[in-house]
Parts: sequence; structure tokens; C-alpha cells
Amino acid sequence: MEKLPDIGEQIEWSSDFSVGIQEIDEQHKVLVNILNDLTEAIEERRGTKVRNQIIDRLFEYTRVHFTVEESLMRILDYPKYEQHKHEHEALVSQLTEFIKKINSETISTYELLFFLRSWLINHIIGSDKAYKEHFLKMGVKRSWANKSWLDKFWK
Ligand SMILES: [Fe+2]
Repeated sequence: MEKLPDIGEQIEWSSDFSVGIQEIDEQHKVLVNILNDLTEAIEERRGTKVRNQIIDRLFEYTRVHFTVEESLMRILDYPKYEQHKHEHEALVSQLTEFIKKINSETISTYELLFFLRSWLINHIIGSDKAYKEHFLKMGVKRSWANKSWLDKFWK
């Protein structure tokens, strides 16, 4: 993958990020969009209230998305489920720590953004792509006509 754009710039969705399963790609796109919203809010100095709302949305959506992925892994008997779940849990606790530090102004929002952008992209390209073959072998459909139910809540 080409490197991530500079910190103040938007991340454009690329086919490099695709795990080959539409539902999951759609959810990952939502995460990238929220990170882009956060970038924009910081760049345009929209203030801490807006910033915190976006961070809350990011935190909440991340947990929803991880829950969906982990459910699929259990249903489909994915052999690396425990390892993958552990990565998710580590991120959620790191994110919790970052949020505390941002609120106490120990670190800047850029530090959170920098960390999350590389975590997310590396996780998608490394760990998420790794379940693709297993999921497809177990009969998961690559795509379907109905839009994701998550769209109803998150777009
Ligand atoms: Fe994941």
C-alpha cells in the first residue's frame, strides 16, 4: 500500500483496503469517514465540542463494528478468533486512554488521529484481510443488493 496521506489530509478509500466482502468494507468506510471528519474538524478549528462528538461517534461505532466482526468470526468458526478479538480489545483500551489524555489536555487530538489512522489501516490490511478466505470458504456472500443495516444508523 502507498503510504497514508499527511496528517491534515483526508484518507481516500482505496481498493487496497478492501477485504473483499461488501458488508465489512462498508463498515470500514464508515470508520475512515469518521476519521476524516475528525481531521476536518481539527483543521477547521471547530472547537472541542464538535471534536468530542466526533470522537464519541468514532468510539461507539468502533465497538459496534468490532462486535459485528467478532460475531461473524464465532458463527463461522474462525480459527484466529481469540487473537483477533485480543487486537480489538487492546485498541478499545488504548482508545479509552487516549480520550482521557485528550480531555485532560495531556496530548493533542493530532496524536490520537495519527495513532488511529495507522492502527486502522494496518489492522484492515493485516488482520482483517486474513479472515477473508475463511469467511468466503464458509459461504459468506461477497456482495448483495440490500444496503447495510448499519447505514440506517451511521450515515
Ligand atoms: Fe478487525
